[in-house]
Amino acid sequence: MRFLRFSFLYALVLCSVVAHAQLLPEQGFVSTAHPLASAAGIEALQQGGNAIDAAIAATTALAVVEPYGSGLGGGGFYLIRLNTQPTPTYLFLDARETAPSAAHKDLYVRDGQVQPSLSLDGALAAAIPGIPAALDALNEYAQRPMYENLQSAIQLAEQGFAVDGVYLERAGWRLSALQQDAESSAIFLQQGQLPQQGWHLTQPDLAGTLKQLAEQGGQSFYHDKLAEQMVQAVQQAGGIWSMQDLADYQVQWRTPLQVSLANERQLISAPPPSAGGVTLAQSLLILQKLPWQQAEPAQKTHLIAETLRRAYRDRGLLADPDFVDNPVDRLLSSEHISALAASIQAHQATPSSELTVAPVIHEGDQTTHFAVIDRQGNAVAATLSLNMMFGAAFTVPGTGILLNDEMDDFAADLSGSNAYGLVASDVNQIEANKRPLSSMSPSFIESPNSFAAFGTPGGSRIPSMNLLAILAHLEGQSPAEWVAAPRIHHQYMPDELGFEPGALDVRTQAALRQLGHRVKELTRNYGNQQVLYWDKQSGHSDAASDPRGQGVSLSAE
Ligand code: DON
Repeated sequence: MRFLRFSFLYALVLCSVVAHAQLLPEQGFVSTAHPLASAAGIEALQQGGNAIDAAIAATTALAVVEPYGSGLGGGGFYLIRLNTQPTPTYLFLDARETAPSAAHKDLYVRDGQVQPSLSLDGALAAAIPGIPAALDALNEYAQRPMYENLQSAIQLAEQGFAVDGVYLERAGWRLSALQQDAESSAIFLQQGQLPQQGWHLTQPDLAGTLKQLAEQGGQSFYHDKLAEQMVQAVQQAGGIWSMQDLADYQVQWRTPLQVSLANERQLISAPPPSAGGVTLAQSLLILQKLPWQQAEPAQKTHLIAETLRRAYRDRGLLADPDFVDNPVDRLLSSEHISALAASIQAHQATPSSELTVAPVIHEGDQTTHFAVIDRQGNAVAATLSLNMMFGAAFTVPGTGILLNDEMDDFAADLSGSNAYGLVASDVNQIEANKRPLSSMSPSFIESPNSFAAFGTPGGSRIPSMNLLAILAHLEGQSPAEWVAAPRIHHQYMPDELGFEPGALDVRTQAALRQLGHRVKELTRNYGNQQVLYWDKQSGHSDAASDPRGQGVSLSAE
């Protein structure tokens, strides 16, 4: 019912991209965060698969080679473009995890206080996974049997692969949580310690689980023996999953968020339960009213930061659309956008405390994103997550399934010091079977002449990273430049303008301080953007992977 209302609104407000004569992409591309997953996706394309086959192959390969980023025990969002005529069809697959039915708003309260570690480490932190069900849903649009699309992942899990510096860095950050769980320690560590570089990670149990999904489909994850193994392990470790929770899990096909921009462009992005698409849409609509493109560096950064400050403030009003009526139409209305744009002062930062308050965002720092385009012009952009690195660092014995800690994306702490924040974040409090609010926002920008896809992991910084990459595209830069561009970030609270090391020179920093910004150089680079580009007039296609990560973009004729 709510879903229908939501779709109807967008159908009314938005128009689609009418296809002009188009030349199909000269090459297909797969961009993922790991070379072995890009190779798995390309193989699917080369063996006669379409973009959706490649997405299934990449999803399952990533579950093996990036166990810290995504997996069968997690969730995610898939934004899909089918190259139908005369207009493309956009689909959004919501495979976000849901809270177990025994969950409630005080789930992580002990002695009157929220215990943050309970929603981060161990079985109680895990929500009901969505990725296995997503494989079945994607399979409806695939050309190859599931079994073939999962072969690369099965081989990678069985035969293993040498871990690299990225794996070691992440396992190092999460070492004590991994050590606390005997199964995770046995699989992901070497004799309980951080492995040596080049150590071979094999995951025979995960290979067995993948084989089961390949033969019996993703639904088999939620029933019978595998479900019993998971429920038993979770309950023994203090978690609250039930067989019914697994049997009840369903992905949702939602109407993508679609917004018309200037110059016949459309933004197609993630609707709630992601807040990311709305944040991105608001930001682009506000910036259209501001002279950011002509501005010198400090003024340009100021306008982007002030825009982000306002869009992130509104994020606090959003939650799972199956539970609340999200005010998306109001947040994107021309009145609201004009008012936000008009409230930005050219020569003065607005302290966040002077804007009415929304909740503090609390998110983890690992996830993955990939993008695929095939030679027929079908495309997929997907952001998949376990939330923190290695999720809850809890592996179900005998299955190789590492569980997520996505429960931490709910607002667990409603007793925060900020009263207005408390009211606003109420909508994202823990409830049985609810999806936690997300920032993940796989996005397309499409015009009659071109198509581009964007996305990255990075928790609360996902929308600002996608915004910067899209702005670089609007400025006419190349895909390699979209992903490489230095990053700045503002998320309303904390009231600071963060930037990657070296992203702002000393003079620009001083000018921004002069405008009233609390400027903060971050200690390290962040994000892992994977992008696609297709010039529909020439047929030229391209892709790029963020130089900050180890991902690669591979092409197929
Ligand atoms: O859904 C979300 O917004 C978060 N769970 C995503 C976490 C993430 O991107 C961490 N990445 N580095």
